[in-house]
Amino acid sequence: MTSYDIAVLAGDGIGPEVTREALKVADAAASVFGFSLNKTELDLGTERWLKTGDVFPDEDFESVKQHDAIFLGAIGDPRAPVGLIEYGIIAKCRFDLDLYINLRPIKLYDERLCPLKGKGPDDIDMLIIRENTEDAYAGMHGFVHKGQPLEVATQTMVYTREGVERPIRYAFEACRARNKKKKNVTLIDKANAVRAQDIWTRVFAEVAAEYPDITTDHAYIDAACMWMVKNPEWFDVGVTTNLFGDIITDLGAMLQGGMGMAASGNLHPGQVSLFEPIHGSAPKHAGKNVASPVAAIMASAMMLDYLCQKEAGAKIEAAVKGLLISGELTGVSTGAHPCDEVGDMIVRELQK
Ligand code: IPM
Ligand code: MG
Repeated sequence: MTSYDIAVLAGDGIGPEVTREALKVADAAASVFGFSLNKTELDLGTERWLKTGDVFPDEDFESVKQHDAIFLGAIGDPRAPVGLIEYGIIAKCRFDLDLYINLRPIKLYDERLCPLKGKGPDDIDMLIIRENTEDAYAGMHGFVHKGQPLEVATQTMVYTREGVERPIRYAFEACRARNKKKKNVTLIDKANAVRAQDIWTRVFAEVAAEYPDITTDHAYIDAACMWMVKNPEWFDVGVTTNLFGDIITDLGAMLQGGMGMAASGNLHPGQVSLFEPIHGSAPKHAGKNVASPVAAIMASAMMLDYLCQKEAGAKIEAAVKGLLISGELTGVSTGAHPCDEVGDMIVRELQK
């Protein structure tokens, strides 16, 4: 039987409980489609750091690299210094595994989940490709004269030609693969103010010329936020920088039902890649069985899709969609259903 090795980083807060449900569902899909998931759980996150001072020891990182995919629940905890766990775990995976694509689908399954008046599933179905290793996230920052009246703080937005070209190319390929009637890629940037982003303008034009079957347009990030709320149906595939992609996909998450719905894949096509819900660790809800595991479950569907088990991924997606449309799943917000019951409900659908 085909088997995949999955490194599981359940993480902080609600991470462990949503991870449990996501893997329960992924295992159920695996047994329906005749493959298996061989999981290695790694104890990483704030609890471990508090106990041992370790964030991501080398031997754990080496172990993670040996897997086919990584599943991450959530990280972040107010007991750790700001950014320590985020940079130590998620950014380390993104940078050191060169996971240069952050794939964030925004798809509305049922009108009831959308806060916009008069918008439904036909209007909200887009794919945001967020560059995932550069920009302000590259970590080039510093302070001089810290704490003094003349303190200076800087953080450099870094763009390399390769770093810009690969997500743009991926966006065009993904657009083609979506097989939609309207094929369009929107470049989202702020090149009028951040002049270094002119590299995005130029590389986008170069790559676009290779895809004559796909139309293109452009929106500055501020305008893109406005259009995504006003006319989300205009968007098909969007490609953007790391920081803007971070922000606009939270906005996008709300259009599809909130953070309880939104999933993502951090990809290096052909290599070990990481899948996670885009929500945080919500420490105040941790351990209460009230978090919605739907985003994590959708991330597990993306993982199976990535592992070439496309039917299994599609079946999980269809099960979630079906339960939302039938109303059996009343929502994806905190407290809508006990966390474990959502997993059970989806497993039952898969077994039908
Ligand atoms: C995300 C998160 C992370 C990011 C945090 C946890 C560092 O918000 O994946 O969107 O900013 O990339
Ligand atoms: Mg974010």
